[in-house]
Amino acid sequence: MTRLLWCTLPLLLFLPSITTAQPQILTSFNASDSPWFPTQNKLLISPSRTFTAGFLPSPTSSGSFTFSIFYTHFNSTVVWSSAPVSSSSPLSISPSGVLSLNNTSWTVPSTSPPNPQLTLLDSGALTFANWSSFKFPTDTILPEQIIPPTGKTLVNGKFSLVNATSLVFAPNDSYWSFTSNSNPVALLNLTSAGSLMFQDGTSLIAADVGAPNRLRRLTLGPDGNLKVYSAAPGSGNWTVVWRAIQERCTIHGTCGTGSICATLDGYDDFNCLCPPGFDRASDGQSCRRRIPLTPADDKFLRLDFVSFTDGATPLSDPSALNFEGCRSYCARNASCLAFGYKFSGSQSCVLNTRLVNGYWSPATELATFLRVSRRESATTNFTGMSTKLETTCPVRIRLPVPRSDSNSTTWNLAIICSLFAVELLAGVFSFYAFLKKYSKYRDMARTFGLELLPAGGPKRFTYAELKSATKDFSAVVGHGGFGVVYRGELPDHRIVAVKKLKSVGGGEAEFWAEVTIIARMHHLNLVRMWGFCAEKGQRLLVYEYIPNGSLDKYLFPANTSDGANAKERPILDWSIRYRIAVGVARAIAYLHEECLEWVLHCDIKPENILIEDDFCPKVSDFGLAKLAKKEDKVSMSKIRGTRGYMAPEWVIQREPITAKADVYSFGMVLLEIVSGIRNFEFRMSTLESEDWYFPKYAYEKVYRERKLEEILDKRIMESYDGRVHGGMVERMVKTAMWCLQDRPEARPSMGKVAKMLEGLVEITEPGRPTIFYLNDEE
Ligand SMILES: *[C@@H]1O[C@H](CO)[C@@H](O)[C@H](O)[C@H]1NC(C)=O
Ligand SMILES: *[C@@H]1O[C@H](CO)[C@@H](O)[C@H](O)[C@H]1NC(C)=O
Ligand SMILES: *[C@@H]1O[C@H](CO)[C@@H](O)[C@H](O)[C@H]1NC(C)=O
Ligand SMILES: *[C@@H]1O[C@H](CO)[C@@H](O)[C@H](O)[C@H]1NC(C)=O
Ligand SMILES: *[C@@H]1O[C@H](CO)[C@@H](O)[C@H](O)[C@H]1NC(C)=O
Ligand SMILES: *[C@@H]1O[C@H](CO)[C@@H](O)[C@H](O)[C@H]1NC(C)=O
Ligand SMILES: *[C@@H]1O[C@H](CO)[C@@H](O)[C@H](O)[C@H]1NC(C)=O
Ligand SMILES: *[C@@H]1O[C@H](CO)[C@@H](O)[C@H](O)[C@H]1NC(C)=O
Ligand SMILES: *[C@@H]1O[C@H](CO)[C@@H](O)[C@H](O)[C@H]1NC(C)=O
Ligand SMILES: *[C@@H]1O[C@H](CO)[C@@H](O)[C@H](O)[C@H]1NC(C)=O
Ligand SMILES: *[C@@H]1O[C@H](CO)[C@@H](O)[C@H](O)[C@H]1NC(C)=O
Repeated sequence: MTRLLWCTLPLLLFLPSITTAQPQILTSFNASDSPWFPTQNKLLISPSRTFTAGFLPSPTSSGSFTFSIFYTHFNSTVVWSSAPVSSSSPLSISPSGVLSLNNTSWTVPSTSPPNPQLTLLDSGALTFANWSSFKFPTDTILPEQIIPPTGKTLVNGKFSLVNATSLVFAPNDSYWSFTSNSNPVALLNLTSAGSLMFQDGTSLIAADVGAPNRLRRLTLGPDGNLKVYSAAPGSGNWTVVWRAIQERCTIHGTCGTGSICATLDGYDDFNCLCPPGFDRASDGQSCRRRIPLTPADDKFLRLDFVSFTDGATPLSDPSALNFEGCRSYCARNASCLAFGYKFSGSQSCVLNTRLVNGYWSPATELATFLRVSRRESATTNFTGMSTKLETTCPVRIRLPVPRSDSNSTTWNLAIICSLFAVELLAGVFSFYAFLKKYSKYRDMARTFGLELLPAGGPKRFTYAELKSATKDFSAVVGHGGFGVVYRGELPDHRIVAVKKLKSVGGGEAEFWAEVTIIARMHHLNLVRMWGFCAEKGQRLLVYEYIPNGSLDKYLFPANTSDGANAKERPILDWSIRYRIAVGVARAIAYLHEECLEWVLHCDIKPENILIEDDFCPKVSDFGLAKLAKKEDKVSMSKIRGTRGYMAPEWVIQREPITAKADVYSFGMVLLEIVSGIRNFEFRMSTLESEDWYFPKYAYEKVYRERKLEEILDKRIMESYDGRVHGGMVERMVKTAMWCLQDRPEARPSMGKVAKMLEGLVEITEPGRPTIFYLNDEE
């Protein structure tokens, strides 16, 4: 009831000013304009009208007002505001030159010219003589604004940025810092081009850096995260182009005491869950124990992948290192509320004396054992919760290896039967997998990352370490666009792929900053980066090793270099092809949309899609385009991208390369997945004349002749059953047609592409892709 009243009150107060026609526009405010009461319909604007200042209803204390600066075209985006004042407290300048708002006042220095004015600059600074709102930021920093180096500079609710370095949850719980080479570093400013500049001369670049004519701001949001926003003037929306923290649940205070924060899908999609034996407290935030804990009458409940980071003390006592030791150590200590144990990798034991900042993620690799009363009957349900992770790569299946004479009908029948059996088995296996959740998720966590990246960042290797791991770079496993890849084994027996980069620009610090961002990208369908080396001009990246090789070896076995192995490779069946397509689409959508739009892959092709044992696809080489030298970035079409996969705008029109270029490349890959033919070899294999542009040919087959089967891979046509596979194959082809549109703006976003493939949106008929490669670009 009261809340309702509080909400409507400011509205009611504001009603007159909304209904009255035009506000009075001031370009400056002086003694003769005084006083200015909050209820008066006046606005102070900057010369080019970018910013406006005026009284707005206070968002925190109802019935009062704040004198605020906001964007004229985004009137809900406030960049600075005063403390709340009541409706009877005016802003005024006295004849003697004292500016006052409620009980605060600013006196003009004696050296100032007479008749001081309050003005709003186009930079967004409100100035009065030597006073400037830029020196007292609230939750936002604008370009050209120097961030005060000490104290709580940006504040939003209980979150603050302290010493221009650390994000702190009240009162003193620091959960994130700007770092450079693992040391904290202070932020200086946000440049108008979109870079964050640091005290040590390093910088971080936002997604749209350099894009001209953008409004930009760095804001500490109510979620406790720092974000750089960008908007084209006149557009209706802000785009987040950089954010400090990628995983919402690592922000302290996101959930209350005793709660466990679990990210489900994307940054904003998270839940605060109560552990078993706990109920949501009346504050709606924290969780409270149902049965009080009494010493010596307790038991432990296992919570997989949960960690409580606050009040946690890693134990160095060797006797407590095995599981039983860890358990009894906690059981003997009355202040121990839970203990965490890491089963894989370096086993470790963590004692919790507080249950704060609970966090669920497979990346923790930790199980927390929660101490509850022995009378507690609740059983644990923290055994999975990662249905989202399961959808693309649910089961391990092995496909029959094709026989050379696959023409006889009996053999065809056999394939159909075995595929049917495989699909049946898949069902059985997923149930089995369901039962085996513990170990399965542990495997999954292993692929997610052995180190806890949010805390430490990727591991830094020395050149000597990598030299010895790869036996002096002896085992070459591939030649990518960015350098040679070697197989190696780390001292802890992890098998890794070491990529020696060529043509990398920038200094070590810049490289480190970029690599840290790449390493933070967690997705089931992205190859995991574990570390890097930057030494003596050498730039190396260390990845998880995917032994089976890349998609091209499965799709085009005849012409791959390892001819000997080619015959052994199974021909991928339709459901696996579909699963690969969806997995890759999701990974790229994640790069484009969830990690903020700046991560373009720029070289999507079957060679960069690695295939795991269970046919789970993993996209590699992402983010590397960012590391290329500046000169290379200018002449992108020659350096990156691969003939046959490059979007038209890239090759011919020299338009800016956007995420839509990746969508085009993905469309080509999709067509190849379906047809088993390299798009640029297609004309040699099938047709003369002008019909050689594969997308156009496919379009004609699908939409004009309605003979979709004719573009499908001949090698598995026998197993194609329209009733079983028709839907998904058709979705793959039609989605490819949309991706392959000539104009970038006609192509769907990658997120939409994933949805189209998954059958979640209707796929309408696209325009016909046309020939653009009039001459062969090398
Ligand atoms: C104060 O501003 C008004 C316009 O808003 C202007 O007409 C007036 O001359 C200014 N007074 C002084 C003393 O500058
Ligand atoms: C904010 O902008 C919208 C759209 O431009 C307009 O309808 C609304 O009246 C504005 N509100 C204020 C308080 O200026
Ligand atoms: C304004 O100033 C008076 C004292 O000058 C103070 O009591 C009051 O809390 C202040 N705040 C508001 C919102 O008016
Ligand atoms: C002004 O009012 C604020 C509350 O709005 C109060 O915290 C502050 O102490 C007051 N200052 C003076 C000088 O009265
Ligand atoms: C402005 O000048 C006055 C008088 O010289 C001084 O007391 C005050 O600290 C100065 N304010 C700022 C923000 O520099
Ligand atoms: C922002 O910081 C950089 C690096 O110190 C400096 O070169 C630049 O002048 C600063 N910008 C402003 C507006 O002070
Ligand atoms: C900020 O700096 C002050 C000294 O300048 C120091 O005492 C304080 O601990 C720092 N706070 C954080 C969160 O780093
Ligand atoms: C943080 O604040 C709490 C409560 O104010 C206090 O008990 C604790 O000692 C503080 N910790 C540090 C490291 O300052
Ligand atoms: C702004 O975003 C909203 C929702 O995200 C969307 O509906 C709207 O079309 C966007 N407006 C513009 C101009 O892009
Ligand atoms: C219990 O654990 C806490 C935190 O680890 C430690 O400070 C305390 O000394 C321990 N008490 C006993 C009796 O071991
Ligand atoms: C566990 O069960 C409780 C009670 O049914 C529920 O509130 C909670 O969300 C469940 N937790 C998980 C992780 O599913």
